[in-house]
Amino acid sequence: MVRAFSKMVMSILVLSIPLYALAGEPSPVPAGADSRYPVQVTPEEALRQKGEMRNNLAVLRNTLAALADKDFAGVETSLRKLAHEGPVATRPGVSTTVFRDLEKGFEGSVDKAIQATHNADVTVVLRALSDTMGYCQACHMAFRQSLEAKPGAEPAK
Ligand code: HEC
Repeated sequence: MVRAFSKMVMSILVLSIPLYALAGEPSPVPAGADSRYPVQVTPEEALRQKGEMRNNLAVLRNTLAALADKDFAGVETSLRKLAHEGPVATRPGVSTTVFRDLEKGFEGSVDKAIQATHNADVTVVLRALSDTMGYCQACHMAFRQSLEAKPGAEPAK
């Protein structure tokens, strides 16, 4: 019952938030509140995930700098660093379905952004990057790391 309820709440929360983000709407999150859904990760996964995330931010910066120079090969090289090693199934948080779907969507959007560089058109690449950043935003608005077991889940191994 509790599990079914929390699943329902999560679906509503998570499904509505990405739509906001993908539509580019401003954040509806009130200051001081954190109602994001906890994604269970081990301490090692938590560190790895945050390390990859900080890298994502640096990559985006380099991507924009290359784009400003119309260095499309540089944009592609930079974007390829957003791709993870190994299949999605090996990533932290993938046991949470919506998180995994956002992760897959994110990777698909990176592929499209890479494709867009082949048109050598700044506007097209910027639109693709905006879609990619919609996934960054959607995931951050919906999820946070949790080192504790989520309600109804198996205890962490
Ligand atoms: C599928 C989900 C997902 C996607 C996509 C995603 N992130 Fe994250 N990101 C997370 C989670 C979960 C955290 C940890 C939040 C917490 O609990 O503090 C995080 C944290 C971060 C942090 C903070 C790292 C730290 O040291 O605390 C940065 C910066 C970040 N993400 C950047 C990005 C950028 C930029 C993108 C897109 C290019 C991106 N992320 C895409 C899930 C995601």
